[in-house]
Amino acid sequence: MPTRYSRTLATLHWLLALMIIGALFGGKVLLANTPNSDPGKLFSLSLHLSLGLAILALMTLRVIVRWRSAAPPHADIGNEILNKAGVWAHWVLYALVFIMAVSGIVTARGADLPDIVFGGSGAPLPDIFTGSARTLHGITSTALIVLIIGHIGAAIYHQYVRKDGLLARMSLRR
Ligand code: HEM
Ligand code: HEM
Repeated sequence: MPTRYSRTLATLHWLLALMIIGALFGGKVLLANTPNSDPGKLFSLSLHLSLGLAILALMTLRVIVRWRSAAPPHADIGNEILNKAGVWAHWVLYALVFIMAVSGIVTARGADLPDIVFGGSGAPLPDIFTGSARTLHGITSTALIVLIIGHIGAAIYHQYVRKDGLLARMSLRR
């Protein structure tokens, strides 16, 4: 069994980390606080939709690569329950990202966004985005932010309190 993640998996991890944090920031700070009547909203939406779809594609690639190649055993945090929580947290991170992408696509389709944003149909945006997929997109984004903060906290704890060199397992340097 390898002692660290392959370069491909590490590259995908850091690229996706940047893209996901960017999409969360753009969604919460820009989109959620900009009314659909704002002339700049269409441009922000086009960036968000493109970024979201790219995340979905790369995340799918990452799951396939992860599934088909060897990865190091899960890190030991010194407590059986926390070790199990860590394994679950990683799977939940994957799941929440997919829920974000699918609920985003359903929201966008429900509001005819693909035609408005990319098809140049010229139709106006709805007053607000509604529906259960939009609600799910908002709630899941908050859950994802909380879990990512916990994930970063756990990485810091490993690296600087347990001093087990965890970050080197995800390093791009060989
Ligand atoms: C910038 C902040 C981040 C840091 C410092 C960080 C750090 C790490 C480290 C060190 C590992 C390897 C753990 C191990 O060796 O077992 C890891 C794994 C992982 N990270 Fe992150 N990460 C960050 C952001 C993210 C984000 C934004 C996501 C996605 C939502 C994410 C999802 C994952 C997943 C799913 C794994 C498990 C990989 C696997 O075994 O398939 N990380 N992270
Ligand atoms: C997978 C990564 C994605 C992340 C992390 C993400 C994140 C977010 C966040 C944080 C919000 C604001 C939620 C709130 O109100 O609290 C948002 C809104 C939205 N997202 Fe995403 N999103 C992703 C993918 C997508 C995709 C793939 C689409 C469509 C193709 C999409 C379409 C939308 C739409 C239409 C809104 C509503 C904007 C508004 O109400 O003004 N998202 N997203």
